[in-house]
Amino acid sequence: MLIIKDFEQFQKVRANIDGRVGFIPTMGALHRGHLSLIKKSKIENDFTIVSIFVNPTQFLEGEDLDKYPRKEEADITICEKIGVDILFMPTINSIYFEDELKISAPAKAGYVLEGAKRPGHFDGVLQIVMKLFNIVRPDRAYFGKKDAQQLILIQKMVHDMFIPVKIIPCNTIREHDGLAMSSRNIYLSPKERQKALSISKALKRAGKMIMSGIKDTKTLKEEMISILQKDIKIEYVEIVNRSLEPIDKIIEDDTIILVAGKVGETRLIDNIWI
Ligand code: PAF
Repeated sequence: MLIIKDFEQFQKVRANIDGRVGFIPTMGALHRGHLSLIKKSKIENDFTIVSIFVNPTQFLEGEDLDKYPRKEEADITICEKIGVDILFMPTINSIYFEDELKISAPAKAGYVLEGAKRPGHFDGVLQIVMKLFNIVRPDRAYFGKKDAQQLILIQKMVHDMFIPVKIIPCNTIREHDGLAMSSRNIYLSPKERQKALSISKALKRAGKMIMSGIKDTKTLKEEMISILQKDIKIEYVEIVNRSLEPIDKIIEDDTIILVAGKVGETRLIDNIWI
């Protein structure tokens, strides 16, 4: 596995790659969720490139940028073992410039849900993903459905900016008890981790209610809130279509149910796609 930290060196290596390139951008602290994206890329492409970069521009003031888990050594070992071809770990100065041009998230879809709670977050996400796409020039890029709004906005950026990359959405990977895999789970104490399970339980319950024929989103949200409220400081429970607009009735293949909330100091998000 090649580890590259410098844009110029990456360009030289990239110029000699012949074949389909799959790309998994990450912020490190790799877990089974990331591994499933890497495995999928390895099956579908000739080369798999992973990037690790804790992107400062997507953290708002007061968020956990300094505390964000960094596990460089362990991440390198994981990537090597699983058969990543190139690990790109750029330094901040090699990819951000002074007074640089900015990408803005769309005014509607970028400022609801996570975008409403974290205004400006998606500007930073799109900025770095655009840069990484231009550097790596992948054929396919893999993103988890757990970050539903991120995935949808990246699909929109690729569409609106005519970027020649195919976005591959990948299912959320969960612990045996239902907790969605997240780099932030390591912040949870055993007691908090137990409470955090209410999120996947509420989503599962909504899924079951829909299967039993309940389509009214108000009823579904009320039931979810009743499951969540004793354990989670709820930030939102929303039911939206794939354009992230709230809906009154469940639409088959065009619905996402999302939850965001805090357990102690740890902010968690999760969702299911119907
Ligand atoms: O999902 C993430 O880890 C990050 O938001 C991403 C896409 C790597 C951009 O920094």
